[in-house]
Amino acid sequence: MDASTKIAEEARRRRTFAIISHPDAGKTTTTEKILLYSGAIHLAGSVKARRARRHAVSDWMAIEKERGISVTSSVLAFEYEGLRINLLDTPGHQDFGEDTYRTLMAADAAIMLLDNAKGVEPQTKKLFHVCRLRRMPIVTLINKCDREGKDPLELLSEVQDVLGIEPVALDWPIGSGRDFVGVYDRMDGKVHLFEGGDHGQRVVDEEVLDLGDPAVAARLGESRLEKLREDLELLEGAGEAFDRERFLLGEQTPVFFASAATNFGIGPFLRRFVHLAPPPGARETRDGRGRRPEEEPFSAFVFKIQANMDPGHRDRLCFLRVCSGRFEKGMTVQHLRLGKEMKLSMAHTASGREREEVEEAYAGDIIGVVDTKHQLRIGDTLASDGERPFLGVPRFSPEIFATLRLEDPMRRKQLVTGLTQLAEEGAVQIFLRKGQGAVDPIVAVVGPLQLDVLEHRLKVEYGVEVKVDRLGLSHARWIGGDDPEANARKIVGQLVQDTEGHPVVLFRNDWELGMAERENPDIPLLTTSPLDVAGSVQAVR
Ligand code: G4P
Repeated sequence: MDASTKIAEEARRRRTFAIISHPDAGKTTTTEKILLYSGAIHLAGSVKARRARRHAVSDWMAIEKERGISVTSSVLAFEYEGLRINLLDTPGHQDFGEDTYRTLMAADAAIMLLDNAKGVEPQTKKLFHVCRLRRMPIVTLINKCDREGKDPLELLSEVQDVLGIEPVALDWPIGSGRDFVGVYDRMDGKVHLFEGGDHGQRVVDEEVLDLGDPAVAARLGESRLEKLREDLELLEGAGEAFDRERFLLGEQTPVFFASAATNFGIGPFLRRFVHLAPPPGARETRDGRGRRPEEEPFSAFVFKIQANMDPGHRDRLCFLRVCSGRFEKGMTVQHLRLGKEMKLSMAHTASGREREEVEEAYAGDIIGVVDTKHQLRIGDTLASDGERPFLGVPRFSPEIFATLRLEDPMRRKQLVTGLTQLAEEGAVQIFLRKGQGAVDPIVAVVGPLQLDVLEHRLKVEYGVEVKVDRLGLSHARWIGGDDPEANARKIVGQLVQDTEGHPVVLFRNDWELGMAERENPDIPLLTTSPLDVAGSVQAVR
């Protein structure tokens, strides 16, 4: 096989996706069951082990500790049916933050996991909207069908009404709660019945039958079978048919039903999902031409930076999403923003606990690069041909705002240096107030843990002790339109600038934001920052 065919083939067999959900919908359990059903692990963890996890900062690190499998905070990579699966971690509990959103910039598809009793919850909504921005294909998995929840038809309506995406059930639950025994696959008309009782630790037995098979009637009993037939008729009459194009555009979402706890429905879901989820596609570049995964020059962009929390090692691990070509160990690439060469000598698979060095990678893969010289920023493009930077990664609207009070006023310089570097790394956002320059900026984050990390890192890495004063603000909107400056002045709220000079208005609450939207229907109030020419996030200077 020649090199270019190999590059195209490897890219085609990649599936890079994330799970978006509200805490407690079952993301950890589902992830584990996906690993179980793909053969990456052979025994799922016990209930007790999961409980212990609650005390850990990151779900992911905790899974790693408990199961002893090779995962870290960024991606789980494994093989399934000849496909290379890259399952990206989207921190969701205490560690929910801007990284959660940024990770979605590196995914090609998402599984939207819903709790069948709770439906669409706030965090799911936020993550869904980020996927929407990228028109990312989303597959919905309704979990916890072993517990009584909302009626499946009602859940479909909720998805439609709350998220504005058209749901199409590709399978359907048979029975509910304790009576949940299987799913009907609407694509091939088969009934999948499950059996097995070891608390979902192992793959369960699955019997696949035709709907008309007398064995189905015998197993389900007349009334359950009747209910299933009625549901299916209703579905046929009510909904649209599945349309792959619309799914790929993020307009339609295929829906599946399962119980990650008992494993019922997980097998059929996974088998369908990996074929629904698309391989890596073209990535948008600033010149508008885009770059295709099978193009030979290697290219990638930085979507996440993780600082080494060990004060002895000030290096940073930068996560790159490969977009085209082939990555080879030790290769030299062009750093487009700096216009210089960079040797990727310390590239690691982002899934190795021991930071195992990566030999090669293709479009869709994630690699971690150690950045000792602090040369990389979120959104930076690295490419072996030195051309065509990607559109980059935007800033996402923060929800927590604060000012910092210096314990020792003599350390202002160190504070500015620290904040600048931390903002470049994407750990925090900075907004400047008019006429004040870099003095007393507003710092802003998406998740509360980010503020704790900021305080900790300023102290440990820059020797600056600060008191964090939370402000009564909860939304930021970048102002769009032909003349953002003039538009911004028309809006009632606190006018500030981001570090690239874009006007941003901060709002105290939903009411104030809603008011601004109603009063200025022609002014775009954007939840993400515009992408600048350099394609990467700048910081205070
Ligand atoms: P998360 O990562 O999305 O936060 O969710 P996680 O998997 O930790 O699951 C949250 C809770 O929901 C856990 O219960 C878990 O066992 C339960 N759960 C997950 N999937 C299912 C399911 O399909 N059916 C049912 N009935 N429960 C499910 P917990 O009581 O908080 O913890 P544990 O004691 O069960 O570990």
